[in-house]
Amino acid sequence: MQDKDNGRKYVNPSFPRFVHGADYNPEQWKETKEIWDEDMRLVKEAGCNEMTLGIFSWAELEPEEGRFDFSFLDEIIDKIRKNGGKVILATPSGARPRWLAAKYPEVLRVRPDGTRIRFGERHNHCYTSPVYREKVRIINTELAKRYSRDPAVIGWHISNEYGGECHCPLCQEAFRKYLREKYHNDIEELNRAYWARFWSHTYRDFSEIESPSAYSDTSIHGLTLDWKRFVTRQTVDFMRSETAPLKAENPDLPVTTNMQYDFRDLDYFRFRDVLDFASWDSYPLWHSGDDALTASETAFWHDFYRCLKGRPFFLMESTPSLVNWREYNKPKKPGMDVLSSVQAVAHGSDSVQYFQWRKSRGSSEKMHGAVVGHDGTADTRVFRSVARTGEILRKTGEIAGTEVRAECAILLDWENRWALEDCQGFIKNDKKYIETCYGYHYALWSRAVNCDVVHPRDDLGKYRLVIAPMLYMTDRETVENLAGYVKNGGTLLATYHLGTVDGTDLCWTGKTPAGELSEVFGIRREETDVLYPHQTGKVVFRGSEYAVRDVAEVIHAEGAEAVCEYASDYYSGMPAATKNRYGKGTAYYQAFRDDGTFAGEWLSLILEEAGIEGNVPEWNGLPRGVTAHTRESGDDLYLFCGNYYGAPAEELRLGRTYTDMLTGEKADSVRLGPYGLAVLKAEKGGPEV
Ligand code: GAL
Repeated sequence: MQDKDNGRKYVNPSFPRFVHGADYNPEQWKETKEIWDEDMRLVKEAGCNEMTLGIFSWAELEPEEGRFDFSFLDEIIDKIRKNGGKVILATPSGARPRWLAAKYPEVLRVRPDGTRIRFGERHNHCYTSPVYREKVRIINTELAKRYSRDPAVIGWHISNEYGGECHCPLCQEAFRKYLREKYHNDIEELNRAYWARFWSHTYRDFSEIESPSAYSDTSIHGLTLDWKRFVTRQTVDFMRSETAPLKAENPDLPVTTNMQYDFRDLDYFRFRDVLDFASWDSYPLWHSGDDALTASETAFWHDFYRCLKGRPFFLMESTPSLVNWREYNKPKKPGMDVLSSVQAVAHGSDSVQYFQWRKSRGSSEKMHGAVVGHDGTADTRVFRSVARTGEILRKTGEIAGTEVRAECAILLDWENRWALEDCQGFIKNDKKYIETCYGYHYALWSRAVNCDVVHPRDDLGKYRLVIAPMLYMTDRETVENLAGYVKNGGTLLATYHLGTVDGTDLCWTGKTPAGELSEVFGIRREETDVLYPHQTGKVVFRGSEYAVRDVAEVIHAEGAEAVCEYASDYYSGMPAATKNRYGKGTAYYQAFRDDGTFAGEWLSLILEEAGIEGNVPEWNGLPRGVTAHTRESGDDLYLFCGNYYGAPAEELRLGRTYTDMLTGEKADSVRLGPYGLAVLKAEKGGPEV
């Protein structure tokens, strides 16, 4: 997939530019086909070059078992091809036709209470069911044979937003098999890992194991964790089986699936082995609170998806205006759609795609935003904004395939989150794991520092600074990875809860943070205080007081230097944040949760010590709501500046002369209007001003 000529990594080298398109469901207008031709005209007018087809088309494509009818798809692909466009083709497994569920009820999901869900909705299928897998294999084979060598088709979109779990007998059996393999067919090994003597839960045989739920057991934490791992594993296994027939026909046509924002249930890190490129559906909650925070949270997920495959990703879905599934469905204000689309590109997306092209007339999504509304015209604010994005993507097309380089990384771990959320301790139901990750990410985002989001067991060697928020579950491999990283010269900033339980959710015994990590940080944790929401503690850092919220660990410095101390409660005077030299590197520990103020200021110092600079000189004092991110390749450096507030921002000095890719003019500073943006190009190492 690497284009050898210019070092860029295109998702599909046969289409070396930005993809600008939308989910398209033309079967909904089969009776009024003049609309199809009108759509082709409007697609061009909007500067779009791609349509994603077939996501929920199974009932059209196989109206009866074994009878296939590809006429609508043939016709529409032909129209798109003649219109100069490209297609991303979906496999239809996200929703099944009625005949399938009626004839083979085993394909429908079973709830934890044992009731089988009836036909309806979408995403309602058992990933284990051999019948479902076989039926998906058959339709996918037909699709692959017919379309996978069609030059108009540039990628596969498998299924739709995988998710959910099934508790049917087939899944129960598959779960037991998974556990048998994992625990070497030794039930005592499983009992030890699950601490099963607690409350007399000892298993006598693998056949006694049932999926955890409110109807069975939620207290065996090792079991809940393994069940979640199994659900991800089974989903990935299903993905593999649905991808195999596609790859058999054309191994070079890249495969993706559309993932989601902050999706708790599946460990997306496990998806990377099946997908050729990552893509996701981004629906930020704009204009409800502080848009700077919304922007940086969205950027966190863009950063994650870029890192998932270490190459450009796709923004597979976004709304050009509003969604329909929130309590309050507010349209984006003028400017926000273009800005948030270009934001994805700034963080490494090679596409801007919408849900959906034309608004449905009926059913639940009829009020959801679309490029073309019920009026069917181009004469709308939303359409014009999509066309503006199309123009920007055309002018900046050479950026496609370039990379984002980051010297900082934040560690994210689903299994850690599951274990933390299961943990009946600290603040029982509101651990704020992802919010804490967002907090550190915001501190970097608001200083215009590029950031990767990676797994704790990934190779960290290329980073100058790694941030590990709330890494409560730290298995032996993670302990070694983190310790090795610091030993070899890395800078690691970790927080409270680090190294509390091992990979089976058993508490580490002896000194914590676990094992070698106590040496790495030069500390010993003794206990953890919890503050009620109405309570605030204090730390003193460089002569000023900062707030402590929610969690305050009582730690002892055993080799580390105290960076700041508590100034409240019975641990007043004890270290609240520490610094320790270990091997060739440095390990910082923040023992308490703050409101962002302390972490931000401390991080500025840590960045400076680690020699990390922001993308513009004002990196330590950017106007709130403004940020800048870079992409690069060879000698080309691209700077994306954005103002996420609805008021004009102060002038931003850039520190060197760039060319404004949208106006063609030279610029050494920019003035960003409300929701304004700039895309600039410079030669790396070019003169600074
Ligand atoms: C996505 C889904 C789309 C559409 C969209 C509406 O989650 O993949 O099919 O339902 O939401 O926002």
